[in-house]
Amino acid sequence: MTAEKSTYGIIGYPVEHSLSPLMHNTAFKELGADAVYKLFPLQADELDQFFKDLKDKNSPIFGLNVTVPYKEIVIEHVDALSPFAKKAMSVNTIVIDEGRNLTGFNTDGPGFLAHLVELQFNTKGKRIAILGAGGTTRSILASLCLIPERPESIKIYNRTVEKAKQLVKDLSAHMDVSNVEVESSIDDLNIELSDLLLNTTSVGLKDPDDCLVDGELIHADMLVYDVVYQPAETLLLKLAKQQGAKTANGLGMLFYQGMLSLQHWAGQEIPQDVKDQVRKALEKGR
Ligand SMILES: NC(=O)c1ccc[n+]([C@@H]2O[C@H](COP(=O)([O-])OP(=O)(O)OC[C@H]3O[C@@H](n4cnc5c(N)ncnc54)[C@H](OP(=O)(O)O)[C@@H]3O)[C@@H](O)[C@H]2O)c1
Repeated sequence: MTAEKSTYGIIGYPVEHSLSPLMHNTAFKELGADAVYKLFPLQADELDQFFKDLKDKNSPIFGLNVTVPYKEIVIEHVDALSPFAKKAMSVNTIVIDEGRNLTGFNTDGPGFLAHLVELQFNTKGKRIAILGAGGTTRSILASLCLIPERPESIKIYNRTVEKAKQLVKDLSAHMDVSNVEVESSIDDLNIELSDLLLNTTSVGLKDPDDCLVDGELIHADMLVYDVVYQPAETLLLKLAKQQGAKTANGLGMLFYQGMLSLQHWAGQEIPQDVKDQVRKALEKGR
């Protein structure tokens, strides 16, 4: 990170409810960095100019997060991709160096895996059921397919089945997806036989009383993970708790993906005490 005031931020639409400014401004304060993290709400027709301006050597912007709906389209605006972002074909983090070269990374899937480690859930030989096939699923699924602790099976169901098929087809060009199966009906997910049920859809985000799953199918020996973190307990997680299952919301994933992004911008490991303060701020500020 440079000594002068550097600017970081998140591009997407909408971005108003993002917790990333809280997370990164807390980190900058703890690190003693003269830097600020801002929201950049951008309409699609503003993207070209925004990226053109980033090339200006006087631009104060040295790093970005990318959220819905631009994680795929920004690929055409960066100069290079990390090997993982190239495989997942999705970018949530951009590093801008002193020469104004842009490199795209994706920390969503690695952040999710880091949270699984914290939850002491080992994916090796496990049966995983996934709801959703959006931008977040792309990075998570790529991570699950590349991890050495290979799951026995990964079943995916998405409301728009074709999107799930296309996602698996895209990933198949870069990794072994032989343990992944796209289901046309939620009934074929075999939730009752799963070790991990993962909701990567936005269901529960706007309406906390909305849930795609019949709670009766959830059992006590499974982990139910909802990438939604606002509200902290979606109906899915409520039902899972009632069934005695272990539950987790997406706040941990948000934290880990953010710390990995920060690590890319800083070019160095983030001290544990800084991470602890950021986690505390997130838990409080949600
Ligand atoms: N915890 C974290 O760190 C983290 C990080 C990133 C995102 N997220 C959260 O992840 C969620 C998804 O984000 P995204 O970037 O993947 O969004 P996205 O690309 O827009 O995908 C949305 C997904 O939700 C599904 N969906 C939406 N409404 C639905 C409904 N009424 N019934 C069934 N399926 C529905 C979509 O299905 P169709 O394909 O059929 O439309 C699609 O699979 C959001 O809630 C976001 O806040 C969390």
